[in-house]
Amino acid sequence: MEIANRLNGVGEYYFSQKLREIDELNKQGKNIINLGIGSPDLPPHPDVVKTLYEEALKPNVHGYQSYKGSPVLRKAFADWYQKWYGVTLHPDTEILPLIGSKEGIMHICMTYLNEGDAALVPNPGYPTYRSNVTIAGGVCMDYDLKEENNYQPDFEAIEKMDLSKVKLFFVNYPQMPTGQAPDKKVFEKLIAFAKRHNILIVHDNPYSFILNEQPMSLLSMDGAKEVAIEFNSLSKSHNMAGWRVGVLCGAAERINEVLRFRSNMDSGMFLPLQLAAAKALSLGKDWHEEVNAVYQQRREKVFEMLDLLQCRYSKNQVGLFVWAKIPARYKDCYEIADEVLYQSNVFITPGGIFGNAGNNYIRISLCGSMERFEEAIKRIKNL
Ligand SMILES: Cc1ncc(COP(=O)(O)O)c(C=O)c1O
Repeated sequence: MEIANRLNGVGEYYFSQKLREIDELNKQGKNIINLGIGSPDLPPHPDVVKTLYEEALKPNVHGYQSYKGSPVLRKAFADWYQKWYGVTLHPDTEILPLIGSKEGIMHICMTYLNEGDAALVPNPGYPTYRSNVTIAGGVCMDYDLKEENNYQPDFEAIEKMDLSKVKLFFVNYPQMPTGQAPDKKVFEKLIAFAKRHNILIVHDNPYSFILNEQPMSLLSMDGAKEVAIEFNSLSKSHNMAGWRVGVLCGAAERINEVLRFRSNMDSGMFLPLQLAAAKALSLGKDWHEEVNAVYQQRREKVFEMLDLLQCRYSKNQVGLFVWAKIPARYKDCYEIADEVLYQSNVFITPGGIFGNAGNNYIRISLCGSMERFEEAIKRIKNL
C-alpha cells in the first residue's frame, strides 16, 4: 500500500527505532542501561494514585468526557499557573487540557499551517516540532541555537530570513536538549519579534520544575497572550509521563481555534485521570524539592560519567538532561554514542537527532536510579 505523501521525509521516531534495537541487544543478554529517554522512573505522589483509584471505583465516571476537559482540572491548571508563574488564566476559556503536550504540537500544526506555510524550529530542538510541521504540510525553517550565543535565538540572523510564509515560531524554555534556562530579556525580544512579524509563538514548557529555581511562563510577559500560546505538561514535573496529561494555555480565540481541530481528533480524557491530575497540580513546594533532590544527586553522577568520556559541559543547566560537547577525536555524536552502547552497554542520546547543530553533542537523561548510574560509570571506566 502506498503511504501518503505527507509522510515523505518523516521517518519513524528515533527512540521508537532505537528502543527496538536495545530490546534486541537485551535479548542477547546485554542488559543495556538506557540513559536516553526522559521518562521519569520515580512514581507520582501517592495521593495522586489514590485519587485515580478512588475515582475509578465510582460507577458514573466511565463515559466520554467534555472535549474541553473537566472544569475541576481546568480550574486546577488556572490555580497552578497563578501560584507558580504569576499568570492569570480564565479556567473556562484560556485553558485546554491535552492528552500530553506532544499531541498538542500536532494540533497546533494542523490548526494553523496550510500547505507551504512555514514554522521556525530550533536546531537543536525537540524533533516533534519538525516532524509535525512536515506532516501538516508546512515547511521547517531552522534557527540555530549555538553554545557561543548561550543557546539563545540570534534575532538578527532570523530577521534576515524570508519570514513572509512564517506563521509559527517554536520555542522551548528550559530548553531541551541544551538545558538553557529561560531569560526575561529573551522573552521580551520574542514577544516584540512576534508582534513585528505577526507570527504566533508556541512556547513549550514541560521542564520548568526540574532543577530550575524559578519556573517561568512566557505568558507572564506583558502582551504575551496577544502573540503566544504555551504548552505545559505533568509528564516531567509530576512523574506522570505515561498518564498523558498536558495543557495548552493562551487567549480564548486561540483555544477555540485549536479546539476546532482537536475535538475531531479525540473524545476527551478519562475523568478519574483528570481528577488525579488536578490533585497533582495542588502539590506544594516540598514535592518538587523532594524530586529535585534525587535529580541533583544523579546529575553529579552524570557529570562524573561525562568527565570519564572527556566531554565538556556547563554545570548551570536545568531540566531533566545533561547536554555535553564530545571530544574532538570523535567524528560525531553517533560515533561516541555507538561506542558507549556497543562497548559499555550504556545508551546515551546522540545530539544530532535534535538537528545537525547537535552533531558534536550528546544528551544524558537523569531518569535512572543511582545504582544504574554507578553501574554505567563502572562500565564506561572499563571502556
Ligand atoms: C521539549 C519537549 N516538549 C514536549 C515533550 C512531550 O511531553 P508530553 O509527555 O507532555 O507529551 C517532551 C518530551 O520529552 C519534550 O522534551
